[in-house]
Amino acid sequence: MYSEKVMDHFMNPRNVGEMKDADGVGEVGNPTCGDLMKIYIKVENGIITNVMFQTFGCGAAIATSSMITELAKGKTIDEALKLTRDDVAEELDGLPPIKMHCSNLSADALRAAIEDYRKKNPGK
Ligand code: FES
Repeated sequence: MYSEKVMDHFMNPRNVGEMKDADGVGEVGNPTCGDLMKIYIKVENGIITNVMFQTFGCGAAIATSSMITELAKGKTIDEALKLTRDDVAEELDGLPPIKMHCSNLSADALRAAIEDYRKKNPGK
């Protein structure tokens, strides 16, 4: 049912944990399943230099959070804002259709972290 990449990111999630000196933090929840995801970003000169996450959720939510941290790292803010749930699912070699909503959380949490950064740093 799950691709090897999904299983890998679920079993060995990248960039897990709290970032104490984050420049932006985004937290989103899925009201249907109750899962929660928090994404932290560090930004230098408009580039996302570090991304970390904490997810209380299903295996697909953990795998998609892990993947989005990898995808967003090194991107400009504008490039990162363009990442969609489909990009995340594609990089994971697909998700079962009933699990696609889980990847929404990761794209939404990243966007929320960027919005938080922009709120704290107007004009950037
Ligand atoms: Fe809730 Fe996957 S079942 S995010």
